[in-house]
Amino acid sequence: MVGRLILLFGLISIASAAVKLQEVYSWNVLDWNYPDQYLKQQALQTGALIRQNALPVGIERWRDKLFVSVPRWRPGIPATLNYIPLDAPYEPSPKLTPYPSFQGNELGDCENGLTTVYRIKADSCDRLWVLDVGTYGYDPNVTNVCPYSINVYDLHTDQRIRRYVFRPEDIVSTTFIANIALDEGLSCDDTFAYFSDELGYGLIAYSWEQNKSWRFSHSYFFPDPLVGDFNIAGLNFQWGAEGIFGITTSPMSADGYRTLYFSPLSSYTEFAVSTRILRDESKVTGSYRDFKVVGTRGRDTHTTAKVMDITGVQLFSLIDQNAIGCWSSRLPLKPQNIAIADKDDVGLVFPSDVKIDNARNVWVMSDRMPVFLESELNYGDINFRIYVAPLEKLTQGTVCETESPVIQSPKSLSVYSPRLQTISQIPSKIFLPATSPRPATLYNPSISQNVIPKVSNNLLYSKQPQPFFFPPATPQTDLFNTNPWWLKDNSRIHDRI
Ligand SMILES: *[C@@H]1O[C@H](CO)[C@@H](O)[C@H](O)[C@H]1NC(C)=O
Ligand SMILES: *[C@@H]1O[C@H](CO)[C@@H](O)[C@H](O)[C@H]1NC(C)=O
Repeated sequence: MVGRLILLFGLISIASAAVKLQEVYSWNVLDWNYPDQYLKQQALQTGALIRQNALPVGIERWRDKLFVSVPRWRPGIPATLNYIPLDAPYEPSPKLTPYPSFQGNELGDCENGLTTVYRIKADSCDRLWVLDVGTYGYDPNVTNVCPYSINVYDLHTDQRIRRYVFRPEDIVSTTFIANIALDEGLSCDDTFAYFSDELGYGLIAYSWEQNKSWRFSHSYFFPDPLVGDFNIAGLNFQWGAEGIFGITTSPMSADGYRTLYFSPLSSYTEFAVSTRILRDESKVTGSYRDFKVVGTRGRDTHTTAKVMDITGVQLFSLIDQNAIGCWSSRLPLKPQNIAIADKDDVGLVFPSDVKIDNARNVWVMSDRMPVFLESELNYGDINFRIYVAPLEKLTQGTVCETESPVIQSPKSLSVYSPRLQTISQIPSKIFLPATSPRPATLYNPSISQNVIPKVSNNLLYSKQPQPFFFPPATPQTDLFNTNPWWLKDNSRIHDRI
């Protein structure tokens, strides 16, 4: 009897702790690297640095840099865009280094500096795409210090190579943009960026080649009024006005276009539109029916961030469940076809960002944001965490698992060949310590399957159009020909255990 109880207890504790995601970094409170101790003391004394006012929100990995964004919601944030060097000696709670510099993060220096940055994205042409929303403060005390501007950096030279200010027509008085998706075409010039306007209910498209932006409006960008109630970390609050938020592009389809997937934050529904529409400024009007309902994820699936990998698997944050969810776009989007990739009721409270790097590692940031905004963080506790896991490991044993990628057709090989050079330049191995390796033997596949409760949302969605399937993505298998470093790394982790 006692033995059985212990076994049961063991299983329960496994179920609530992340088993696949490895915690790489964690912080009670953030801190910054300064050129010297004197400057740091000065920053602390003048209030230029108030550590407990900093909340990390976005992450992105590019080679040996892990970018971390920190919005300026409160005073004392020395830099909104930062990075952690992955090639430096490992520290479990590294201090942030401003990117590209302190000067390049000057609050209110609209021409040269960044004021507030949320989620960021690197592309395969080694550029970092950053939207400066230009705000200081948090609702209702927000000041628009600078206009919305797209800032693109050359990651090799750390120079800003483009600054573009949104046209006044692109934004409305309530505009709030925290998410970005990239649509890379056949050349580096043929790149589009999309920005979701959560509170202005719009979608802004920007063409690198034309250096021009335009704005789409659609009723699918609005929140679902029935699901505006949130329960996270023991807090109950209403985010019922939150519209289009998490966005990601699919791999390129046979027709040469991608699909932009999007969902409002206050919603359980996933929508999509082909980039054929978004890339065409003339489609700003008359394209209502080109926007599609993909399906519903089911109850308690509010999401803030999503990303799709080259095999068409989508990962998304599940803020109600302290989890990362997954869906393979080869299957219809319905609750049965969604799985929890990993979950942790302590560590994954408010997963704020999820990214997949070129080596197909999934990076997750969790930051307890509702506690920071609606209550108060306990700085004696670990509040911010960054996790990583190979994508295949995360989806293993779930309905999202993909078959081994198929060999690609010569036609699409030529389409993707410019990229190959970039991908193969990635160092074969980076230093990626596992701070808290979980014993692989305890891993229980039946728990990881953990499918979201099959509660039918038919009543909520019966009036909406039938789910729509976009053409399947062309497999881009050639990208796998470079042996992923984490295969080796993975076996190393298991050896250690
Ligand atoms: C907004 O600013 C005012 C004046 O500085 C202050 O009294 C109030 O507490 C602030 N509200 C929030 C929600 O921070
Ligand atoms: C792009 O447009 C911006 C206007 O926001 C302008 O300042 C900038 O010089 C343009 N860049 C290029 C490369 O045309």
